[in-house]
Amino acid sequence: MQISIYSQDLKTWDGKTLMIGVLDQEGENLKNLLEQSNFQINKKVLDGKDFKVKKGALKKLQIVDSHEIKTIIILGLGEKDELNLDDIRNAVAMGSRASIGLTEKIGIIIPWESFEANAIVKAVGESVRLSTFKDLRFKSDPKKQKFPQKVELIGLVNEPKEALDQVKPICEGVEVARELVGAPANNLTPEELANQAVLIAKNFGLSYKILSQKDCDQLGMGSYLAVAKGSDLPPKFIHLTYSPNDEIKRKIVLVGKGLTFDSGGYNLKVGASQIEKMKYDMGGSAAVIGTARAIGELKPKGVEIHFVVAACENMINGSAFHPGDIVKASNGKTIEINNTDAEGRLTLADALVYASKLRPDTIIDLATLTGACVIALGEEIAGLWTENDQLANEIKKSAESTGEGIWRMPMQKSYKSGLKSQLADLQNTGPRAGGSITAALFLKEFVDSNIPWAHIDIAGTCWTEKNRGLNTIGATGYGVRTLVELLINSNKS
Ligand code: BES
Ligand code: MG
Ligand code: ZN
Repeated sequence: MQISIYSQDLKTWDGKTLMIGVLDQEGENLKNLLEQSNFQINKKVLDGKDFKVKKGALKKLQIVDSHEIKTIIILGLGEKDELNLDDIRNAVAMGSRASIGLTEKIGIIIPWESFEANAIVKAVGESVRLSTFKDLRFKSDPKKQKFPQKVELIGLVNEPKEALDQVKPICEGVEVARELVGAPANNLTPEELANQAVLIAKNFGLSYKILSQKDCDQLGMGSYLAVAKGSDLPPKFIHLTYSPNDEIKRKIVLVGKGLTFDSGGYNLKVGASQIEKMKYDMGGSAAVIGTARAIGELKPKGVEIHFVVAACENMINGSAFHPGDIVKASNGKTIEINNTDAEGRLTLADALVYASKLRPDTIIDLATLTGACVIALGEEIAGLWTENDQLANEIKKSAESTGEGIWRMPMQKSYKSGLKSQLADLQNTGPRAGGSITAALFLKEFVDSNIPWAHIDIAGTCWTEKNRGLNTIGATGYGVRTLVELLINSNKS
């Protein structure tokens, strides 16, 4: 999909389909705009009030004369004073879905002047592209979804070049994440996840390292490897690195939970625990690898970025870890595993120790970590835990500008007593109440306390059952846009 600016008069535009975002008070303006543009739209339509469209609604007008433009999709944007970027994303997504099946180019007119040019172009570009994404890889006859391959943003005066250059790599990063999450566990094994990561590294000039089970054993990663024991598939520890070609001012490690399937282990997922969905338990790693894809092309200055994933499956066989087992992580801490279904934190423990050893300035992990976070915040908001206010603000600001929901949650120190073990240094789960907080407190034990660290629980946001905003049913690719935003601005703050 090619997105470009059309800065001339609408009269000379030669496409067939036009999407127009209209503010509540703009009904008359729209009428003027259409009249000035030489449309001989059925007069009845113009004279009536039909072209006023409520916020969040859409109306399709078919043009009856011989004019080039055949279809106008009117998007209701609501009150001017309340208009924000998310309204634009949602409206454009709705209009884009209504354009599926068209192959001609499409034009978009919205109140550009209400926003900063780069921000609005990014929001519109990402929305058009991501809201029409469809994963057809597993169909026997993957007919390409028809969608206009050319999108022109009409009436923008100055060309926001930076944003135009960023839309494609960011969207492709999100699509990588969606495809990784959408791929089932018999297709996306830990080894295949590693292969995909290496492919991205090779294509975009990142360096890479894949550690085998033996390598991880030598590093003392007893916590991570315990989880992998019950699977016939070998674990793969993935580490990609982006190095800028100028002076490194900041070093950031992104860590992603990479369970290509989580059966729960001997604490098997039963009842309503949605075992059939647990292919998406590598959503954190998908966000991290999708971000690597985008960063590989965007090549931000001044920041070295590491992408770390301890990938494996949580399965059951005669070698699987038992409830009650005691293991030792690579920082020497011993863990009593009182629940094998709290496996993500066990894999992250060793990944966070590894990340700390890289001596970065910042560590951020993303994980589909707890059902408790889904209960607390639902499907549209991820949980954010960090003791560092500056990092919290940096992440919140990035998330806000991309429209990805996030909410800072408490690192309640007193809850740590819930993780006390009689035999080991700590146990891997605490009481059911506040379960996403004890999960974060558990992770904290494996991060060097001098390194600013944030944990993002994406259990609710990584998957959706309905088309919502620029998300389509299935994997959302949550996290990529926020991480990229943070990284490309990371040496400015
Ligand atoms: N992968 C799950 C968390 C999850 C649950 C993700 C629902 C997406 C949707 C994780 O490994 C898990 O099973 N967590 C347990 C922890 C509990 C045993 C303390 C949970 O949340 O139930
Ligand atoms: Mg689990
Ligand atoms: Zn899990």
